[in-house]
Amino acid sequence: MHEFKYRNKQLYCEGVKIQDLVKRFSTPLYVYSYHTILGHFIKLKIAFKKSKPLICYSVKANSNLAILRALVKEGAGLDIVSGGELFRAIKVGCPPERIVYAGVGKTEKEIKEAIKIGILFFNVESISELENINGISKRLNKITNVAIRINPDVEPKTHRFITTGRLTNKFGVDFKTAYKILKMRKDFKFLNISGLHIHIGSQITSPLPYVSAIGKLLNFIRKLRKEGIELEYLNIGGGLGIIYNKETPQTAEEFAKRLLPLLKKSNLKIIMEPGRFIVGNAGVLVTKVLYIKSTSKKKFVIVDAGMNDLIRPALYDAYHNILPLKMIPQRKGNAQKVDIVGPICESADFFAKNRTIPKLKENHYLAIMGAGAYGFSMSSNYNSRCRPAEVLVKEDKFYLIREREAYNDLIDNEVIPEFLR
Ligand code: LLP
Repeated sequence: MHEFKYRNKQLYCEGVKIQDLVKRFSTPLYVYSYHTILGHFIKLKIAFKKSKPLICYSVKANSNLAILRALVKEGAGLDIVSGGELFRAIKVGCPPERIVYAGVGKTEKEIKEAIKIGILFFNVESISELENINGISKRLNKITNVAIRINPDVEPKTHRFITTGRLTNKFGVDFKTAYKILKMRKDFKFLNISGLHIHIGSQITSPLPYVSAIGKLLNFIRKLRKEGIELEYLNIGGGLGIIYNKETPQTAEEFAKRLLPLLKKSNLKIIMEPGRFIVGNAGVLVTKVLYIKSTSKKKFVIVDAGMNDLIRPALYDAYHNILPLKMIPQRKGNAQKVDIVGPICESADFFAKNRTIPKLKENHYLAIMGAGAYGFSMSSNYNSRCRPAEVLVKEDKFYLIREREAYNDLIDNEVIPEFLR
């Protein structure tokens, strides 16, 4: 995480001492580096320059308006999966022709909104959905662009909860079904089936699963061409892995080197949907050590952030590096093995298990690294906890991009019925 570094033993984000942000905004606090976000986007854009892809940042990874706006301003499109994400995309001024819409369960309301706005296309995940979008388009008297999401049945070698390209997963349709759909495409009078889409999983660190999936797609595209079925787009999804611990993910260049020749063969316009690659290592969750507690078996460091703020360890047993904001001198014998846990009433509420870390004390502050993707966006109010504030740092300036929630936000939409008053 190049923009998160120690200077004079204090952890900085770009040119701002994170401890100063804590003083100002308290904890738990998400801190993001603007230059990392843009840097990753540009890295990908340059690496894939030859295929001139439309890079649609995957909103679900981190949907803060400021982050979306920064990327859209830089030329990114957006990959969305709900009416709420469409609302955000429009709010930040994303041109509709740069929006692609995936997800297995789009509702009638969501489909209608997206058609009216005129998005680039839907990534359609089943025949029933195709029929539904056709019907809605007919009622709106519009021709709608769609791509078929193919489930290429490849093993991305990632956590089973974030594997999406196996036939045991709910996503997409198999090649046989896609073929059937394309053969009967004239029956869908209000659809223009103009592309193929894959997204095989997330946190994928090797290019091989992509090579294998795109290889299968190329065979399929060849077969279609022979039968006079022409397409316009190939959407290769997201999924590029990042370093959380000891992973050795491919760089954007290595990844491009393997994929560009294949993408060229397709002769189609290329779309990519990276999420984690762009924001994952651009954010940290800052938290305060509240208490230290020992049992006969374990030592616990209890912090003020919880699984409601960052659920990845609880949900996927994900590893996040944890660094003190103020460097703790590494003296012989001062390292200890601890569980770093939150205040929530669940045993899954942990950030690290049996982690060897320099001796922590109460009132120390920690940065949970690699928290930019699927951190805040997966947060909740569980245990009636207010969601944390978010700050964006650009060089030596910082901007509050989401206020800490207040107790009133927790109950804003709740009503006590008359008979209970
Ligand atoms: N496109 C589609 C259709 C997706 O479903 C996803 C992510 C992406 C793109 C972006 O994938 P990325 O480049 O970020 O890997 N919550 C999990 C990750 C779930 C990913 C869901 N889909 C985690 O925290 O690891």
